[in-house]
Amino acid sequence: MPAPSLRHSSIDSAALGPEEAAEAVSDLVAAIGYHGQRYHAEDAPEIADADYDTLYRRLQAIEARFPELIREDSPTARVGAAPAAGFGKVRHAIPMLSLGNAFARQDVQGFLDSVRNFLAELRADPAQAVEVLAELKIDGLSCSLRYEHGLLVQAATRGDGQEGEDVTANVRTIDNVPHKLTGDAPDVLEVRGEVYMTDADFLALNARQQEAGGKLFANPRNAAAGSLRQLDPAITRARPLRFFGYAWGEVSRPLGKTQAEARAALAGFGFTLNEPSRICRSIDEMIGFYDEIGNARATLGFSIDGIVYKINRLDLQQRLGFVSRAPRWAIAHKFPPEQARTRLNAITLQVGRTGALTPVAELMPINVGGVMVGRATLHNEDYIAEKDIRVGDTVVVQRAGDVIPQIVQIVPELRDGDPPKWQPPTECPICHSAAVREPGEAKRFCTGGLICEAQAVERLRHFVARDAFDIEGLGAKTVTEFQEAGLIRTPADIFRLKREDIEGREGWKDLSISKLLKSIEDRRTIPLDRFILALGIRQTGQTTARLMAKHYRTLEHWQAAMIAAGDPESDAYKELLNIDGIGADTAKDMTDFFAEKNNLDALADLEAQLTVEPFVPPAGRDGGALDGRIVVFTGTLVQLSRGEAKARAEGAGAKVTGSVSAKTDYLVVGADAGSKAAKAEALGVKTITEDEFIALVAG
Ligand code: IVH
Repeated sequence: MPAPSLRHSSIDSAALGPEEAAEAVSDLVAAIGYHGQRYHAEDAPEIADADYDTLYRRLQAIEARFPELIREDSPTARVGAAPAAGFGKVRHAIPMLSLGNAFARQDVQGFLDSVRNFLAELRADPAQAVEVLAELKIDGLSCSLRYEHGLLVQAATRGDGQEGEDVTANVRTIDNVPHKLTGDAPDVLEVRGEVYMTDADFLALNARQQEAGGKLFANPRNAAAGSLRQLDPAITRARPLRFFGYAWGEVSRPLGKTQAEARAALAGFGFTLNEPSRICRSIDEMIGFYDEIGNARATLGFSIDGIVYKINRLDLQQRLGFVSRAPRWAIAHKFPPEQARTRLNAITLQVGRTGALTPVAELMPINVGGVMVGRATLHNEDYIAEKDIRVGDTVVVQRAGDVIPQIVQIVPELRDGDPPKWQPPTECPICHSAAVREPGEAKRFCTGGLICEAQAVERLRHFVARDAFDIEGLGAKTVTEFQEAGLIRTPADIFRLKREDIEGREGWKDLSISKLLKSIEDRRTIPLDRFILALGIRQTGQTTARLMAKHYRTLEHWQAAMIAAGDPESDAYKELLNIDGIGADTAKDMTDFFAEKNNLDALADLEAQLTVEPFVPPAGRDGGALDGRIVVFTGTLVQLSRGEAKARAEGAGAKVTGSVSAKTDYLVVGADAGSKAAKAEALGVKTITEDEFIALVAG
C-alpha cells in the first residue's frame, strides 16, 4: 500500500476552511497511521522523523482550530503519542502519599495493633475502641484540585508525590468536578481524589477505538490516565472521566473533627464521594465491609482494587503521621488478584541493567481481569524448578494492580506427556559472556559488565528516567539511538555531547539540537536524591535514594560514608543500618557498589561534569524546633509511646539515636531512667522531662 496522499497540504493550517480542514484531518490521520506503522511495526520508515513530526503538528494545529474534527482514533489522542513535554510542573504544598498494603486479616490486625501501640493512651486501655472509616479504593489516578475563594484554580496529577503535572485545563472538562464550590468552603481548599472512568464508558470508548482502528486501552485506569494526560483539553473533554473526592491537602480551616465529617463537608461543597463507606469499631466490622464490597464488586460499575481503612479521628491521624511515603493512620486492604489459565509457549531471558537474567514466560495471550497478558515474569530458576514449570504447560496467570503478571502454578492434569525441564542459561543472550550464579543469589548475572550492550543501554535509560536526570528531549528512545551509534557509552558522555556529534543525524535539526544541548546544560545541576537514584545501584529506588540524601545531605558526605561503610565493623556501617528504612540487604548493595573500582572511576568522571546540590528538606519541614539536633530517650514515657516520641522528634527535625554521647543535644528522661541519665550528666548533656519535650516539639 502506498503512502496516502494529502489534500490541501499547501494551505497554511490557519487558512483552511471547515470542509478543507475535514478532508485534511482525514488524510493526515491516515498518513500518520501509515507512517507510524512503517516505523514502529515494520521498522521500515519511509520519511524522516522530522517530516513525521511536521504531519503530527499540522494535525494538532487543525484539531485545535476545529475541535469537532477530533476523531477518537486521532493519533494525537493516543497514550504515549503525545510529546512528553508540555505540562507545567506543580510542586505539592503537602506531598501526595501512597498507602501501605494489607492482603490478609492478619495484616489488618497488624495495622490496628501498630496504631494502638503508637498511641500510648490506647495501648494502656485495650477496651477502648478506635473508630475506623472504611471506604472504597478506586482504581484510577490521583489528582489534587486546588480551590481559592471557592473557585478551581489548579489541578495537578500526583507525579512522584512531591511534584506533579499541571492538568488544570483537562480537569475543568470533567463533568462532576465543581468549578465553583457550594456552601461555606474554606478560602484555600485542596481536594484530593481519584480521576477514573466507569466500566461502561471504558467499554464504549474501546468499542469506538476498535471501530476506528485505534489503540485499545488495557483497562479503565489506563484509559483514564491516557485521557487526562492529553495536551489538548478538547480530547479530554471527549472522554467521559469522573472524579471522586476522598482526601485533602492544604486547607485554610479544618474540614471537621473526623474523616466522616470531612467527607460530609466535601459532599456539601459539591464533590461526589466514593460511596458506600462505613464507620467500623472492630476488625470484624472492617472485614465484614471488605467482604460485602468484595462480593458486590462486579456490580459497582467502576473498578476498585480494595478497601481503604482510615482512623476516623483527625487529631489521631495528625499524631500518627507518616512513615516514608505512607500514612500510619491508613492502610489499603487489597482484593485478591485476578487469575486466568493459558499455555506457556516459550521461556526467554531478559537482561536487566544490573546484568540480572530474568526468565520470562511467553504466553498465549489471555485476558486477565480486563488486561491482555502475553508475558509474565518467572523470577529465577529456583522458581521454575520449584513449580516444575515446563514449556507447553497450561499455567495459571495472575495479576494484581500494577504488578507484573506472574505464573502462580501449572495445571498438572493438562500436561502433555513429559516435556523436558528448562535448563538455566550458561551465557548472556546479549553479549555471550558467562552467566554465573553467586552463592546466596537467586538470580544469574551476566559478567559482561561494561561491554554488555543490554546493560549499557539499560544503565543509560535508567540514568535519564523521569525520576532521575529527566533530561527533556533525551528519552529512552534517543538514549538507545545515541548509544547504538556510539555517541554515548557512559552517563558522563551525555554531558560531553557536542553539536557536531548530532548534526547530520536523521531527524535532528539545528533547533532540536540546540534544545537538547540546553536541556542537558540545565541538568548539570541536580539534587542529590535524583543523582543517587540515577546511579542505578542495585535495589536503590526513589525511597532509598531519598533516605540517603536526607540523611547524608551532601554528595561528599554520602560518598565518604559509603566507602567507609564497606567495613562492617565501622561506625559508618552502623550509622547506615540505623537509618529507618535501610536494611542489611540495601546496605550491602550500597557498599558493594562503592567497593567496585569501575564504579568509583565512573562516579569521578560524572562528578567532574556536574554540580550535585545538597539535599534540602521539603518546604514546611525545615526550621523545625529541633532542626539538626540529636535526641536520646531513656526510661518509661507516660504520655507518648516510644514510637510516637521518636516520630515527633524527627518531625521537628531531630535525629534520634540510641546512646548518649558528647554529640547528644537532649536526653529525654522518663520514669526509672538508668545509667544514661548519669552519663548525660557526666558529659554535660542537657536532660529534659517528657512534658518539656512535648512542649519543645510543639514549637
Ligand atoms: S487516601 C495519605 N483513599 O490509592 C493517603 N487513597 O495506593 C492518601 N486511592 O495514591 C490516599 N482510593 O491514588 C485514599 N479511598 C481512597 C483511595 C485512595 C484510591 C489511591 C490513591 C493513592 C493510592 C495508594
